[in-house]
Amino acid sequence: MAGLNPSQLQKFREDGFLVLEGFLSADECVAMQQRIGEIVAKMDVPLHCRTEFSTQEEEQIRAQGSTDYFLSSGDKIRFFFEKGVFDKKGNFLVPPEKSVNKIGHALHAYDPVFRSITHSPKVQQPHLGGEVTPHQDATFLYTEPLGRVLGIWLALEDATLENGCLWFIPGSHTSGVSRRMVRAPAGSASGISFLGSEPDRDNSLFVPTPVRRGALVLIHGEVVHKSEQNLSARSRQAYTFHLMDTSGTVWSPENWLQPTAELPFPPLYT
Ligand code: FE2
Repeated sequence: MAGLNPSQLQKFREDGFLVLEGFLSADECVAMQQRIGEIVAKMDVPLHCRTEFSTQEEEQIRAQGSTDYFLSSGDKIRFFFEKGVFDKKGNFLVPPEKSVNKIGHALHAYDPVFRSITHSPKVQQPHLGGEVTPHQDATFLYTEPLGRVLGIWLALEDATLENGCLWFIPGSHTSGVSRRMVRAPAGSASGISFLGSEPDRDNSLFVPTPVRRGALVLIHGEVVHKSEQNLSARSRQAYTFHLMDTSGTVWSPENWLQPTAELPFPPLYT
């Protein structure tokens, strides 16, 4: 990836996010979408693992902490679903390929198509287009010092106001981290708990960020962002993962996502 020019860098530092249109070619987007189509077609999710993806605190504890499906997904390819796609017995109410909110968290490690994009000289989890409530990535991926985590969000399709584009509060990356999701001590009923709370955000401060297919959105680890539920007929697939500057950085041992012996965090530069 060619470096950012000085005005792009300045914009990122001011806003906490930056859009780079035309980062991926249409062919690269199509290759990832086809691969996701194949993965979803073969998806086999046990009934008890039919978990809706949520960034709402209570739902996270209930849906993610009550099973270890989420907590042990860091080194696996697993599926997380939109709300309302299952009946009470866990049967699909919509076509399975329309039910997925997110596939995580190790496509970058195990799937050849995603591995090659993640490790391409151009630069973990495809969002297929669901609602993500206002948050900072540092809530989930906490480091000391802060400011070492960068979100990479690649639009595989046009992301619009109608189908769930990203929204940001520009400049919100400078006021610390409001809330942290931490692993609960061993033996707790719930696998995770929260420190602090998400303040009520003034909705009028959010700026929509529609982008074209192939765009790269850089997301500062502390900038407040969200996406609305996609109620349109068009999907909004994106491939997103995070990079950490490891130099002098401590990855919080309380983060839900931990490197394992089988799957350490892969270095970008080898
Ligand atoms: Fe995020």
